Amino acid sequence: MCGIIGYLGNNEASPILLESLRRLEYRGYDSAGITTIHRGKLQTRKAAGRLVNLSDLLVRDPIRGAIGIGHTRWATHGKATVNNAHPHSSNNVSVVHNGIIENHREIKKHLILKGYSFGSETDTEVIPVLCQKFLDQGCSYKGSVHKTVDMLKGQFAICFLFEKNDDLIFLARRGSPLVIGHGASTMYVASDALALAGLTKEITYLEDGDTAAVSRNKATIYSKDHQETKRPKSIVSINAIDLHKRGFKHFMLKEIHEQPKVLAKAIENVSADNWLASTSASSLPFKELEGINLLGCGTAAYACAVASYWFENLAKLPGRAEIASEFKYRNAMIKPNDLSIFVSQSGETADTLAALRYVIDQQGHNLSLLNNLISTMAKEGTHSLPIHADLEISVASTKAFTCQLIVLLGLALAIGKIRNKLEQHEYNEFQEVISHIPALTNIVLGLSDEVRKIAQFISEFPNALFIGRGLMYPTALEGALKLKEISYIHSEGMAAGELKHGPISLIEKSFPTIVLAPSDHLFEKTKSNMVEIQSRNGPIILLSDADGVEDISGEVDFSLTLPKVHSLVAPIIYSIPLQLLAYHTGVIKGLDVDNPRHLAKSVTVE
Ligand code: F6R
Repeated sequence: MCGIIGYLGNNEASPILLESLRRLEYRGYDSAGITTIHRGKLQTRKAAGRLVNLSDLLVRDPIRGAIGIGHTRWATHGKATVNNAHPHSSNNVSVVHNGIIENHREIKKHLILKGYSFGSETDTEVIPVLCQKFLDQGCSYKGSVHKTVDMLKGQFAICFLFEKNDDLIFLARRGSPLVIGHGASTMYVASDALALAGLTKEITYLEDGDTAAVSRNKATIYSKDHQETKRPKSIVSINAIDLHKRGFKHFMLKEIHEQPKVLAKAIENVSADNWLASTSASSLPFKELEGINLLGCGTAAYACAVASYWFENLAKLPGRAEIASEFKYRNAMIKPNDLSIFVSQSGETADTLAALRYVIDQQGHNLSLLNNLISTMAKEGTHSLPIHADLEISVASTKAFTCQLIVLLGLALAIGKIRNKLEQHEYNEFQEVISHIPALTNIVLGLSDEVRKIAQFISEFPNALFIGRGLMYPTALEGALKLKEISYIHSEGMAAGELKHGPISLIEKSFPTIVLAPSDHLFEKTKSNMVEIQSRNGPIILLSDADGVEDISGEVDFSLTLPKVHSLVAPIIYSIPLQLLAYHTGVIKGLDVDNPRHLAKSVTVE
C-alpha cells in the first residue's frame, strides 16, 4: 500500500529517497514521486507505474537538494496517473500522505470559495492547499500544520515540506504509522521502519495524534493537544531486507519453498510443554475463558476460520472466526471472559487494527499474532506473539498463512492443556503429529511439476470452484482466494455440502471444481458431492491421499496424491498445493505473480 519516506541530511536526497522507496516497493503501489528543496525552491518529479519510471525520469530530468520526501501511491481517490501521484503541492507546501481524508469534499469546496485551485482528483491535495491558506494568513509552519490537521477527518500519516525552509519536515500522524529515524546530523522519516533498514536502527515511533517538527539535529514532538512532548527512542534491529530471489523465478515461489524452514522455526517455538508461560501472553486468564474471537482479513481471516475448529475441539472453547472489517460495525459484544485473537502478517491492516482498537476500547482481552513485531498492532495491542515467517515480500500470503496456522494450533493445544481439556499424553501425541509437518511440506513441494499440469488445465477456464468439508472448508476458501488474486480466474470456495443449495447450477463442462478430500470420516460425503458434479459434466480435480485417490480410481479429470496426514494438520499440508496451483496458473497466463493488479501487501485503509 502507500509508502512514505523523508530525508534531511548532507547528501543528495533523491538517490536516498529512491532507494528507500525500493525497499517499500513490495507493499504494492501504482505510481511514485519525490519532492526536494534546492536553493529554496520545491522541485517535484512523479511517474505513473513502476518505480523504474520515476528513476528513468530522474536520470533525464534530475532534481537536487539535501532534503526531500518520497511516496509510493496505491490509488484510492483518482486513477493511477502522474497527476494524482504524490507529492501534492500548493505554492509553498509539498505533501505526501498515507490514509484517507474523509471530509476532503467539504474542505475542497471551502478552499475553492476562498479562491484556491486544485489539479488532481485526490483527497490528499486538500492538505497542502489548506496548509497554504493558513500560511497565507500569516500562521507559522507549526501553526499552519496544527490548524490543518485539526480540520482533517479520517486517518493519515503526512509529511509536509516548506519552500524556503530546507531544514524542516513536519509530520502528522493519526491512524497510519509514521516513524522518525535518527542519524548523525541526519534524520529520516518513514511509514514503515523496514524502509530504514541499513540506514539507522535508532527509531522514534510517533503516537496517534502526534505531530513533529524534524530538522537535521533534532525532532520536536507534539501530542494530540499540540503540547510539546517526549517519545522514547528505540533501538530496533531491522535486518536488511533480503530483496534477492535466490535462484527462484519469483518471490512467491521462493516463499512457498521457504515453508519447511519457517514452519520448523514456528513449530520449535510452540512445541515446548509450557511455551505459552514464557511469553508476554502468560498473564491472560486462560482458565477462566468462555469464548475466543478470531479476527483477521483475507488469508489471515481464513487462518482464523481454520483455528475456530481447533479451539472448539482442542480447548473446548467456542471459537468465533470473523472478518475484521465487519466486527466493529455490527457492535460485536465483547464479554469479560472472551479472548480476541488478531491475526495479521503486516500488523498494519487497517480493518484488523480497527477491530483491535474496538476490543481495547471495551477493555477486552486481546492477543495479536503477527509477523511484524515492530508494527502498529504490536505497539497498540496488549499482548502479541510472533509467527516466525520472516519477511514476506510477494503480495500473496503463503508462508505467513501456514505459520499463522502453526501458532494458532500451538495456542489451541496450549490453552486446551492449561484448561485441563487435554491430557498430557494427548498433548504429546498432537505435538508428535505437528513435528512431522516440515518433512511433509517438503514432500508436497516435490509435487510442483504435477501441480503445474493441473494449472495448465485450469488456466483455460474463466471460473473455478473449490470445495471441502470440515477443516477443508476454510482451506477451500483460501485456495480460491489464492487462485483469483494471482491468476484473475474467478474462483469461489465453499463448503461441499452447500453445493446443492444453489451453486450447483453453475456446474457444466467449462466449470472445474477442485475437491479437497482427505480420506477421513467426511470422505464419503464429499465423494457424493463429486458424483453430483460429474453427473453434470463438471471437470474435477481431486486432492486427496493415496486411499482417497484409489477410491475414486480414475473417475476424475486430475488427481493429486498427497501424504496421508492427521486431519488436524491437513489444512497446512493441503494449502501448499493450492499455493502452487495459483502460482503456476499465474505464470502460465503470463501474469506478474509477485505484484497482482490492484493489490497491496499491506492494506492500511479501511
Ligand atoms: C492474500 C493476502 C491478503 C492478506 C490480508 C491481511 O494472499 O495476502 O488477503 O492476508 O490483506 O493482511 P495482513 O495479514 O497483513 O493483516
